[in-house]
Amino acid sequence: MIEMRRMTLEDVPAVVEIDQLSFSLPWSERAFIHEIQDNPAARCWVMTRDGVVASMLILWIIVDEAHIATIATHPNHRRRGHARKILIEALRAAREEGVLKALLEVRARHVVAQKIYCDIGFEEVGRRPMYYRDNGEDAILMTLDLASAGWL
Ligand SMILES: CC(C)(COP(=O)(O)OP(=O)(O)OC[C@H]1O[C@@H](n2cnc3c(N)ncnc32)[C@H](O)[C@@H]1OP(=O)(O)O)[C@@H](O)C(=O)NCCC(=O)NCCS
Repeated sequence: MIEMRRMTLEDVPAVVEIDQLSFSLPWSERAFIHEIQDNPAARCWVMTRDGVVASMLILWIIVDEAHIATIATHPNHRRRGHARKILIEALRAAREEGVLKALLEVRARHVVAQKIYCDIGFEEVGRRPMYYRDNGEDAILMTLDLASAGWL
């Protein structure tokens, strides 16, 4: 069974594992704990499959904008639609809070993630040169107008 719910402190070990398996610049355990318990702007989500954390997503709500801070699926659970689903559900929840626009940065060479975002309706609006400090890769800035994404 697939379920989406807010991330709790008990999820942190599983979330850290997903993060470390997914990113070349993973966050620290403390960073996730901070997001869950100390950052009022953060909305931290997990998607579980039969009770096991398969995907995680954190976004920050700043006034009427949602910034996708991180999103990843455990390698054992990829290509099952989890990333698409957790993103759509998190955006719906943000819109219910009054958010009008979502934005994110994605690596210029990360075409898989870009496809997911484009399919949902995100559009490229800019580029941040040399944004990623591990390899100097550019970031593509993408936004989605939640007010006009009627299908969401
Ligand atoms: C990118 C990532 C989050 C996708 O997670 P996922 O749960 O596997 O994604 P989904 O199953 O929802 O994929 C949705 C669609 O994206 C595309 N897609 C996803 N992974 C793909 C892959 N490896 N190759 C080609 N297309 C892919 C497909 O179109 C897929 O739909 P389909 O399976 O029906 O063809 C996951 O690969 C990941 O955690 N990567 C490392 C972390 C990361 O890069 N996060 C994004 C930072 S911007």
